Amino acid sequence: MISSTSFWARVAPVLLRIVISTYQEIVRWLGDHDPTTRRLIESILEEEEEHADDLIDLLAS
Ligand SMILES: [Fe+2]
Repeated sequence: MISSTSFWARVAPVLLRIVISTYQEIVRWLGDHDPTTRRLIESILEEEEEHADDLIDLLAS
């Protein structure tokens, strides 16, 4: 049986990639039609990219 730590070490990076690519797609979809919403989504995307970096560091340690 797989431990929950090992499970999340495998699953979390996949989930983060999906989250990041989804936000990137939303930014592309918004284009220049709604700059306010686009800035909001870009700030969320930036946070998720930081979380991905943190996760990479954590999994490497
Ligand atoms: Fe996050």
